[in-house]
This record gives sequence, structure tokens and C-alpha cells, in this order.
Amino acid sequence: MKQGLFITGTDTGVGKTLVAAALASFLKKEGVDVGVMRPVESGCRRQEGRLVPQDALFLREAAGCADNLDLINPYRLEAPLAPSLAAEREGVEIDLGKLIECFQAIKEKHDFILVEGAGGLLVPLREGYFISDLAQVFQLPLLIVAASRLGVINHTLLTVRYAQSLTIKVAGVILNNPEEEDSASGSNSSLLQQLLDVPLLGVIPFTTQFREFKKEGLTDLIKEWINLAALAGTPE
Ligand SMILES: Nc1ncnc2c1ncn2[C@@H]1O[C@H](COP(=O)(O)OP(=O)(O)O)[C@@H](O)[C@H]1O
Ligand SMILES: [Mg+2]
Repeated sequence: MKQGLFITGTDTGVGKTLVAAALASFLKKEGVDVGVMRPVESGCRRQEGRLVPQDALFLREAAGCADNLDLINPYRLEAPLAPSLAAEREGVEIDLGKLIECFQAIKEKHDFILVEGAGGLLVPLREGYFISDLAQVFQLPLLIVAASRLGVINHTLLTVRYAQSLTIKVAGVILNNPEEEDSASGSNSSLLQQLLDVPLLGVIPFTTQFREFKKEGLTDLIKEWINLAALAGTPE
């Protein structure tokens, strides 16, 4: 994992931002100069006429970097819809060249880059272009965050296998509990462990502390629940 990671998920609301922010905060504490990117963020709130990209802001805070928000998050959209739909509705043209330029600029400035996608791999960014295409162009290993709910085995295997079919490297899967844990949580992780041919890097429990974005405790989350040795062993 020399260059960075592209963080995707089995769905929206699974904990991608929490995991990305925790990794950013952990690496920063370890002395790594981390850059972050949230290429397109939809569902932004409007405050005093401006759209506020909550994920991008939280990632920047966690990484402790001072990059311009327009570099970290070149496209922010108001409608809580797939980016292609929100962009169409809001008359925004998502320019792939611009996304790549911003990515390169962040990569050059920092030792390590963490990119949070939007939703899952087949979320459309614009006509004929999906998050998976961005992961391919950025050439970063994928870190898949899966929410431990009914359906997680199917969603995780579909995501891993689709990535592999595109020859995108998969660094591993993190099983997260963004809602109060149900009794199936333990069995989900053991079944995933059996069925995955990529590392299950950790299981994050539901914690009231992480119901909302806050910086405190992020570093400990990684130390306590993530197998860093397995993650660090990921080839570039
Ligand atoms: N392990 C957890 N315990 C408690 N709350 C969590 C946990 N993981 C995520 N959450 C909360 O769930 C919501 C969705 O998480 P988020 O990281 O924003 O997901 P995504 O980026 O995949 O949309 C956020 O409010 C977050 O604070
Ligand atoms: Mg997010």
C-alpha cells in the first residue's frame, strides 16, 4: 500500500467516510503525509448559499492537510441522488479530466492518498462512466467497506468479484456495523472469512461514539479493529 487506497463500499451509509477518516488520522499520527480526495459528493447541504461537502471536510480534518476544498472535492451536488442524476438535475458537467488532474495534484503533494468513492463500484458518475472506472484510472488498490446487515455476504462477494473482473487489486474488506449490531454479525464475519479470497482486514463494532463524525477516537479505531499488517502487505 505504497501509494494509497481507493475506498469503496457495498452501499452508501456503510462507513466509508468513517474508515477513510480513521485511516487518515492514524497515518497522520504515524508521521505519514496523507492527502485525501472525495471526487464527487452528492447530498450536500446548502448553507448560506454554498454547498457543504461534509465527507470531504471531515476527511481533510482527519488527515490534517490544508489542501483547497475544491481540489479535494471538485464536484459537490445538492440532490441526494446518484452523482450522474444529481449532476444532470443541477446542470453540472462532471469532467473526468478535471477529476484526474485533481487526483494527480494531490498525489504529487503527499506521500499517501486516500480516495473515498461514492456509494459502490457501479454508481454512475456520468453517462457510460462509473466509480469503478475512476478506481481503475487512479490505479489504487481497493478497500471495500461492507455493512454487516442482511445481504452483506452477497453484496461483498459481488463487489470483490466485479473488481477482480476489472483487474482492480483488492486490498481487503472491512466489515463495519453502522447500526446496532444484530445477532448475525458474528456469523457474517466467519462466513465472509471462508468465502473471500482477499483479506478480511477487520470487523468494526457499532459504537455510539461514531454515530456522528468526530475526530476523537479515530486512531484507536484502526489500532483496535484493523489488521494493519495485512493491509500494509498489500501490493501497490
Ligand atoms: N461503527 C459505527 N458505529 C456507529 N456509527 C457508525 C459506525 N460506522 C458508521 N457509523 C455512522 O453511520 C453513518 C454512515 O457512515 P459513513 O461513514 O458516512 O458511511 P458512507 O461514507 O459509506 O456513506 C454515519 O453517521 C456514521 O457516523
Ligand atoms: Mg461517505
